[in-house]
Formats: sequence, C-alpha cells, structure tokens
Amino acid sequence: MMREKIDETVKVIREKTNFEPKIGIILGTGLGKLVQSIKEEVSISYKDLPNFPVSTVESHEGRLIFGTLSGKSVVAMQGRFHWYEGYSMQEVTFPVRVLKALGCDILIVSNACGGVNSYFERGDIMLINDHINLLPENPLRGKNDDSLGPRFPDMYNTYDKDLLKLAEEVALKNGIPVRKGVYVAMQGPCFETFAEYRMIRAIGGDVAGMSTVPEVIVAKHMGIRVLGISIITDLCLPDLPQAVSHQIVIKAANEAEPKLTRLVEEVIKEIN
Ligand code: HPA
Repeated sequence: MMREKIDETVKVIREKTNFEPKIGIILGTGLGKLVQSIKEEVSISYKDLPNFPVSTVESHEGRLIFGTLSGKSVVAMQGRFHWYEGYSMQEVTFPVRVLKALGCDILIVSNACGGVNSYFERGDIMLINDHINLLPENPLRGKNDDSLGPRFPDMYNTYDKDLLKLAEEVALKNGIPVRKGVYVAMQGPCFETFAEYRMIRAIGGDVAGMSTVPEVIVAKHMGIRVLGISIITDLCLPDLPQAVSHQIVIKAANEAEPKLTRLVEEVIKEIN
C-alpha cells in the first residue's frame, strides 16, 4: 500500500526529471533560503505530486528542488509537514520515503526550536545527537512493509556519528559555533507551558520543537544516515518566562539562516 503510493509519486517525478539526488535536505521554519545556494535543475511543487500533502503553514513554500549543492546531487524539501497541521504520521513522513526511493541515503534535516538548556542562546546552532519523542504517535505504527525497513528498528546511531563528527569539524574549521544536544518533539501547535519546559529539561532535553523526529524515525527505518541541525529561535527558560510567537521564531530563524546555509554547504562539500 505504502509502496504503491511511493511508486506512484516517484513515477510522476521521473516524468519530469532523471536527476538522481544522493542527499535529501529538509528545511525548517524560516530556513528555506538555503535553496538559493542550490544550482537548480528542476523544481516540483508539492501540489503536482500525488500523495504529497500540501503544507498549510504560510512560511513553508511547498516544493521539491533538485540540483547540485557544493558539487553534490541533492534534493531539498522547501516546506515540511507537521503533526499539528492535522496530517497522519504516515503523511508527515511520506516525503522521506520518496527521497529514499529517489536515491537519497543521507538526510540533512533542519528545524527551528526553543532552547531549554540554559547555556544556549537565541540564534545558536545545535547539532542533534539524540531525541525524545513526545508526539502522540509513531510513524511506524501499523502494518510494517519489510521491504522498506524492519518491524523493530533500533535507534542506535540514528544521528549518524560520522556525520556528526564531520559537522563538528567543519563548524570548527569555518568558525561557526555549534552546540550539541537532545531534541524533544512536542505536539504543538501551542508553544509549551513553562511547567512543560521544566519537564523537558528534567527528562534530558536541550531543545523543544514540533517537527523532525517523525522524519528521522522513518529515515532510520530505511537505513538513511541522518544529520539533524536545530536553530534555537527562542529561549524556553521556566525561571525566566518570556512570551514567544511564530513571528519571533521566523525572525530568529531568518537571522541565523546564513550560518546554517554555510554549515550545510561546507558539510556537503566534505561528504564522500
Ligand atoms: N517550542 C518552543 N519554542 C519554539 C518551538 C517549540 O516547539 N519551536 C520554535 N521555537
């Protein structure tokens, strides 16, 4: 069933392009500008792709961009899907299945998030080294298609150690400060309460956000190596309560975006 849907979507893409991306990139809220660095071959709007949901958040553009970045073949998702928009977890993660079918064996996934680690600052970049899934459902729930991945995938090395090390080295070499930490996936769409921020901190989280984890789980299911990058757009400090808004998040993401683009470009350059 899932396989048929994937094949159907891939067929439509293949009618438009033979381009074979090796690296998939998912761009988070306010981080879409990275696509300007891609030497574009072709772009396809989500609305022209069967089985693709259409994103409902204004700041997400909704297209697949095929091309080269730092000399490598990539496909970028400008706009992603969130649980809070009302999609099923299968819908949220469907594009990742398609990226794999197109040839991607590496996924670079970015997001805007709130920092609960009190050492973090607004605008910081954090490399994700693990996650905690507090979303109400797992995208792998239901019948498993063994041809896509195992029933019980382990979460060992989900955030690929080699990619993480490479990203750290590249960041250091290019003078881009990066943090490392644990991403906690929350349901949204409301931002969390301050009691929840305290809880997130207590259970071992460094940042909170509303995306990424479903896509990463599905990537891991299919054996895709993942590099996760978070931009801390606001501070979620229970002892220093501050209001947050979508506008604040977008503004901070936009400001940090050039740093993220440079990091991703340099990392991709070094990937073999
Ligand atoms: N929670 C708190 N702050 C945020 C989030 C979130 O999910 N996303 C961006 N900033």
